[in-house]
Amino acid sequence: MTLSAELPQALWVPHPRREAGAAQGTGPPLQLTVKPLSVDGLSTRTDKRIYFDWNATTPCLAEVRQRIDEVLADLGGNPSSSHAEGRAARAVLDDARARIAGCLGAAASEIVFTGSGTEANQLALSLRRQGSSSDDRHRISSAIEHASLIEPLRDRMASGEQVSLTGCTAEGWVEPQEIAQAMRPETDWISVMLVNNETGVIQPVTEIAARAQASGAVIHTDAVQALGRLPLHVDTLGVDALSLSAHKIGGPPGIGALYMRHGLELKPMLLGGRQESGRRAGTENVAAAAGFAVAVDIAATRQPRETQRLTVLRDAFEAELMRVMEGIHINGAIDRRVPHTSSVSFDGCYGANIAAALDQAGFAVSVGSACHADDPRPSHVLEAMCLTPGRCRGAVRFSFGHATDRIAMERLLNVVPDIVNRLRSIR
Ligand SMILES: Cc1ncc(COP(=O)(O)O)c(C=O)c1O
Repeated sequence: MTLSAELPQALWVPHPRREAGAAQGTGPPLQLTVKPLSVDGLSTRTDKRIYFDWNATTPCLAEVRQRIDEVLADLGGNPSSSHAEGRAARAVLDDARARIAGCLGAAASEIVFTGSGTEANQLALSLRRQGSSSDDRHRISSAIEHASLIEPLRDRMASGEQVSLTGCTAEGWVEPQEIAQAMRPETDWISVMLVNNETGVIQPVTEIAARAQASGAVIHTDAVQALGRLPLHVDTLGVDALSLSAHKIGGPPGIGALYMRHGLELKPMLLGGRQESGRRAGTENVAAAAGFAVAVDIAATRQPRETQRLTVLRDAFEAELMRVMEGIHINGAIDRRVPHTSSVSFDGCYGANIAAALDQAGFAVSVGSACHADDPRPSHVLEAMCLTPGRCRGAVRFSFGHATDRIAMERLLNVVPDIVNRLRSIR
């Protein structure tokens, strides 16, 4: 199977963390004889795998690794110390903070480094306008948020706090009108993600922010899957707060950031020292912050071209699948998605079985969020879209990044129909 797009030659991503053949998924064990791959005369590369799970994490970029090594080799001081070694570490941290802020159109002092996107989201939960002290808070968010936001919100609901979770359309986007209808006089916090991690659907955050602005509520967006996929500018978006994570854009794992507009305050989750201007205690990970800044710079520079390139590839991939197969559905609004994600449901199959068979064949894909890989329940995102149970069960998330090229896509297309047809035949 070939794609017509004129694109760069194959770039192979080394074997990810798991051992080859370690099938993942929740369905019954499946024995498949996968045909050797042969595309355009290329020999089978048994020692290499192809990675289609870029929404779960991305390989750390060489430039990022180099910067991290430099910082670890050169700096020995604690950025909170006042001696020369401490000041040198502080300068690197300040530079990273300023660079990340610059890419968002924010001030450096509005960035708080965190240990992950998860932590940034949970820190954001306590944001409020300075001086507003009412305990009668009402928060609004959506049913399609990442677990790192939805779970703590559910926890707060269970302990009696006021939270409304709005639904979404069958195409996977949150209607600004629904958010507006959920608003009450005591609503002081609204959060809707910018790009959904399972479907890639871009949410109407700007419209939601515009509607909510007059109320004075804090508007937060989880931009973890938007960074490097869309231009991000906090004033254009109209948001007060935004969460980021480095490992989704070729940065190191274990570092994220929360942008919080001047005039907001938060309740620190970690208490202790005065690091991060008293917003997060604990010695900062200077090397990871420096690597994160490099990754943000590269992502911002590459984004327009990558968006164009991956749109061509993703569209060709989906068109070819639809051409050769029956009973498949693309999940999420076709024309409102980032091109890095393709959520496809296959009738009559378990997505987990397809993912396991693809894993055996050398392809890394997922059925949804990586943090729910061992959870047999259907995706809360696809359920919120009111897709049929069969369509929820049959979903596979293919996600793409800078090393995804035409040949990788062709190889994937060469095996997916075969695997799905075999699975359908053994039902
Ligand atoms: C939309 C979204 N938000 C938050 C997170 C959590 O980020 P991290 O893995 O850095 O904790 C993820 C990770 O998958 C995500 O996709």
